[in-house]
Amino acid sequence: MKIIMLGAPGAGKGTQAKKIAAKYDIPHISTGDIFRANIKNGTELGNKAKTYMDQGLLVPDELVVDLVVDRVQQDDCKNGYVLDGFPRTIPQAEALDKALAALGDKVDYAIDVNVPDENIVNRMGGRRACVGCGATYHLVYAPTKTEGICDVCGKELILRDDDKPETVQKRLNVYHEQTQPLIDYYTKAGILKTVDGTVDINDVFAAIVEILGA
Ligand code: AP5
Ligand code: MG
Repeated sequence: MKIIMLGAPGAGKGTQAKKIAAKYDIPHISTGDIFRANIKNGTELGNKAKTYMDQGLLVPDELVVDLVVDRVQQDDCKNGYVLDGFPRTIPQAEALDKALAALGDKVDYAIDVNVPDENIVNRMGGRRACVGCGATYHLVYAPTKTEGICDVCGKELILRDDDKPETVQKRLNVYHEQTQPLIDYYTKAGILKTVDGTVDINDVFAAIVEILGA
């Protein structure tokens, strides 16, 4: 099962992708997480990506396409994967389709987690991410057992640099300009499924499971 998660920044792509990966036993591939891991390790890719991410801009297509095309051909992707945060532009979607077609393969579902802009800004201010394992929480909607401490690995939680309100607004603008056209792209491909992302995390997941099958 090859799945793409679509949705605005903060719509809950990562939250749902992790649940899908666990239930269907497929890898969760988040380009944002890959870039953040590279930034943390001070790699050349990380340094390049950081200048764009901190401004709320997309990293150039050429820095992300090969990385994902290589990743989905690794052994653990044989039974499928859930892509979170990729593709984010029409050229990225076309490059993915082309690479998969060359392997005799295709994407099965593009799931759009739909959340209006007004809900997003409120959510992002409350998101906290673990500095150790990258797990994400929300102060109100997905709290940790002990305040400020990751449930998974016990490390400290932080507000992501790009979750400051002015950067969130910029990311939303970039989303509408560059990523939203993918809704049309996957509608035409006949694989778009939309779920309401404003309801409780578990109810969003239930709607996704209904689409994917139990
Ligand atoms: P990325 O890390 O992908 O960020 P994003 O798309 O902006 O999305 P987020 O991770 O912020 O949100 P999410 O939808 O995963 O929401 P989450 O589940 O955390 O990308 C970061 C940057 O990297 C980009 O800006 C770009 O620069 C670069 N980049 C990455 N991929 C790229 C690509 N392909 N091309 C170019 N550049 C790329 O949920 C948000 C919060 O809400 C959490 O606190 C969560 O607990 C809470 N929550 C989730 N669901 C619910 C719910 N139903 N009800 C209440 N709260 C909820
Ligand atoms: Mg995410």
